[in-house]
Amino acid sequence: MAILEIARMGHPVLGRPAAPVADPTAPEIARLVADMVETMEHANGAGLAAPQVGVSLRVVVFQAPGARAAEGLSDAEHFDHTAPLTVLVNPVIDVLGDDREGGWEGCLSVPGLRGWVERPFHIRYSGFDLKGNRLTRTARGFHARVVQHECDHLDGILYPARMGDVSKLIFESEIHHWLEPKSSDEEAAQ
Ligand code: NI
Repeated sequence: MAILEIARMGHPVLGRPAAPVADPTAPEIARLVADMVETMEHANGAGLAAPQVGVSLRVVVFQAPGARAAEGLSDAEHFDHTAPLTVLVNPVIDVLGDDREGGWEGCLSVPGLRGWVERPFHIRYSGFDLKGNRLTRTARGFHARVVQHECDHLDGILYPARMGDVSKLIFESEIHHWLEPKSSDEEAAQ
């Protein structure tokens, strides 16, 4: 495994659609994913998409740990809000309902910044794991946000392009001016 260099905003690989993976079980995809996971964890990110490491293929890795989820949820709701470390090859997202939610996002390809992005609150996503099995889940809140953020990378979209109010593109070092005490759980870079 290896820690890979992360492409930064402005690199052409981040601005173009990534290609579907022909065989999710191919050994080179497993190697790519192992390196992506190591790179993501080394950078303390919540997610990473293959184009961010210079590979223009439709592969993402992400996690939505319980600590990032809202408190006071039922078990069923809690599952929607959290996800273990997950690999998705050729992911597809369906938006469920009209609810939208704003949240602060960061991105390992846009280091040092945070932006307020509104996205659909509730989604269903599916894709393939490294054994070629189809995975389908529903997701809400931070879990839904991180999946949408990562899948946007596969279409050449970085979160600033999703922002409605660019005055809420700020330096990470200033985010304490914007956060309520105790709600600083949404900021891991993706
Ligand atoms: Ni990102």
